[in-house]
Amino acid sequence: MQDSTPEPKKPTHIALPVAAVDATTQRTNEQSIYLQLGAEKFWDIARAFYARVNTHARLRPIFPDDLTEPIRNQAEFLIQYFGGPQTYSDRKGHPRLRMRHAPFPIDLAMRNDWVDCMRGALLDANIPASICAPMMEYFERTATFMMNKQ
Ligand code: HEM
Repeated sequence: MQDSTPEPKKPTHIALPVAAVDATTQRTNEQSIYLQLGAEKFWDIARAFYARVNTHARLRPIFPDDLTEPIRNQAEFLIQYFGGPQTYSDRKGHPRLRMRHAPFPIDLAMRNDWVDCMRGALLDANIPASICAPMMEYFERTATFMMNKQ
């Protein structure tokens, strides 16, 4: 007897869920961090980061006197990187981070200073530990990539 059950329709479009936590690794997906924190928290992080840079003996001299623009650059970049609107690139183009950092001498000590300021800024901005962990993973990795001096 012939089976008259119709063949199930092949899906024409598969919606991928935006998972906040990767089921296999149990880690927060970087792209979902914006959804969890919201824009204002990234501005808090950028302001807290530059408040630390502002009083840092080694880092302060390589940044401009007026930190208004760096705060905006950092906030908009982080919003974009962690899954929010592309305001940074709309304003400045592709981030090209390594190229943009080429004018500044960044050795291991400077890299570590930067990472310490960012770790402190996440605490200052009261970012939950579960979100600090993946953010710091990104910062540690990228700050190393930014080094351009022995
Ligand atoms: C995770 C690592 C880092 C990220 C994501 C990052 C991100 C950024 C961004 C988005 C800008 C703005 C660039 C522009 O739009 O022109 C910037 C500027 C800058 N960064 Fe970094 N940076 C990192 C590491 C470092 C390190 C390790 C140093 C030195 C210790 C550093 C020093 C500077 C300086 C001096 C500027 C110029 C300030 C400005 O014009 O905004 N950065 N960084």
